[in-house]
Amino acid sequence: MGTYLFGDSGESLDPKFDALSSLLDAGTFARVEQLGVADGWRCLEVGGGGGSVANWLADVVAPSGHVTVTDIDVTRLEERDNVTVLEHDVVSNILPGNAFDLVHARLVLFHLPQRDAVLRKLRDSLRPGGWLVLDEFDCLPLEVLSAAPDDAKLIIRVKNALLTLLQHAGAELAWGARIERALLDAGLNDVSGSREVREWRGGSAGCRLLAATARLVRARLPLTDDEFDRYLELMASPETVVSSYAMCSAQGRR
Ligand SMILES: C[S@@+](CC[C@H](N)C(=O)[O-])C[C@H]1O[C@@H](n2cnc3c(N)ncnc32)[C@H](O)[C@@H]1O
Repeated sequence: MGTYLFGDSGESLDPKFDALSSLLDAGTFARVEQLGVADGWRCLEVGGGGGSVANWLADVVAPSGHVTVTDIDVTRLEERDNVTVLEHDVVSNILPGNAFDLVHARLVLFHLPQRDAVLRKLRDSLRPGGWLVLDEFDCLPLEVLSAAPDDAKLIIRVKNALLTLLQHAGAELAWGARIERALLDAGLNDVSGSREVREWRGGSAGCRLLAATARLVRARLPLTDDEFDRYLELMASPETVVSSYAMCSAQGRR
């Protein structure tokens, strides 16, 4: 339990990070902008992945602000004048206290069995008045809206197999549905949140994410090669429509 499912595949995560960035960056940026992020802010981006959020924050808080971006795998993160890249496990490594105006984590706590303790650690790293922002999935809403019956069954089989693997690795599948409550339980103030279920059509960023995720765990999916190839075709075909994972965000201030 508790090993990041996509950490040891030996496959490139880049298609996944590209899909995440296309799917989620616009919403993340809009929410963070509404908090008033500006020149001078000190930011922590936890589990920064491909770095799209950290790089955007670095531009917004320049020239006098600073971004620290962490991950257990920092190979896709780049140092810049006002960006420090830190190889850091948010579960077991310490964070400075009272240090940041903004702490953001996207689809990281979802994977971590110790997510509630990590949340308190992130809270403590904020200066009083600083904002904690989480973007997370609730995976349960995913359903097939348009596909032939056998194809719909295949998509649901892959969904169930993937979610089982995630759960065995320590993920909380409906964590997104609980984040507002978790921020309140951590004692944060001015807590609010949002939840959005969209339609993901084959070829869209959402279906590219599903395909990239399935590729990363291909060896552990109980599918024949023909079934797996058909799944990839379906995720690329505009004839396929699924309801998305619920995309949940919440914010609160210390
Ligand atoms: C689903 S990806 C999300 C990446 C990025 N936040 C985004 O939304 O584009 C999860 C990220 O969390 C990182 N991660 C997993 N466990 C972690 C841990 N214990 N501490 C820090 N980062 C971790 C992974 O390496 C990966 O980059």
